[in-house]
Amino acid sequence: MRLGKRLEQLKSMVDSGYDHIWDCCCDHGLLGAALLAECAAPNVHFVDIVSELMQQLEQKLKRFFPRENASQNHSQWHVYCEDISNLQPQELGGKHLIIIAGVGGNLISEFVKNILTKNPTTEIDFLLCPTLHQYTLRQQLIALDLRLKSEVLIADKNRYYEILLVSNLKNSSLKVSATGESIWQAKNAADEKMISAYLLKTLAHYNRVQLNSQLDVRQIIDAYSSVKFTS
Ligand SMILES: C[S@@+](CC[C@H](N)C(=O)[O-])C[C@H]1O[C@@H](n2cnc3c(N)ncnc32)[C@H](O)[C@@H]1O
Repeated sequence: MRLGKRLEQLKSMVDSGYDHIWDCCCDHGLLGAALLAECAAPNVHFVDIVSELMQQLEQKLKRFFPRENASQNHSQWHVYCEDISNLQPQELGGKHLIIIAGVGGNLISEFVKNILTKNPTTEIDFLLCPTLHQYTLRQQLIALDLRLKSEVLIADKNRYYEILLVSNLKNSSLKVSATGESIWQAKNAADEKMISAYLLKTLAHYNRVQLNSQLDVRQIIDAYSSVKFTS
């Protein structure tokens, strides 16, 4: 099963130690299936709002990951056709990783807020990869006082993705920043090229918004203008 660079990067950021991993907005469930095959956690949950997708996925999982072989060869799996704002991980107990990738940062902001409001006593890490509106998402994570575990910037098929791993556990003092910190630190020349191209593209986007719409995004432009990338 080929995941592609973005999903491979997400998979590589999944640590051990979770009781439940949720592949949310899972579409065909590629990432969750890869985690299932690796027994990344005792339970892997697949959630999407489109029922036909979930029916097809359930059939595939039954075929490739038979329930009777669970625990020996792969994790237990669970499929839900559901709006992810309604997730109730609290009912299951244990430690959760909720992955939300491939949708906009505006939507992810709502999902994270709703999940945390409905599950206030559950230990939850979120692995987030928005397609757009990264700044909005960061503002929400800051407002929720989530702690940063790691952040990565990648380029895949001519698009850039910020990936954030954050936690509602307050045992770290590392906070989420408005535009990111370590994503601007290049490890080599190729990294530096990618980082500067992403920064230019982001600034160009917000300058266009400022010119062509009613929205006042000067604060965002100022924030990205003061980013200093290092190599
Ligand atoms: C582009 S796919 C992302 C697939 C995969 N996560 C990835 O990163 O490649 C977006 C998916 O989000 C699902 N989705 C959108 N809003 C949702 C919601 N409120 N609850 C659950 N799934 C939702 C859509 O049905 C669609 O399958």
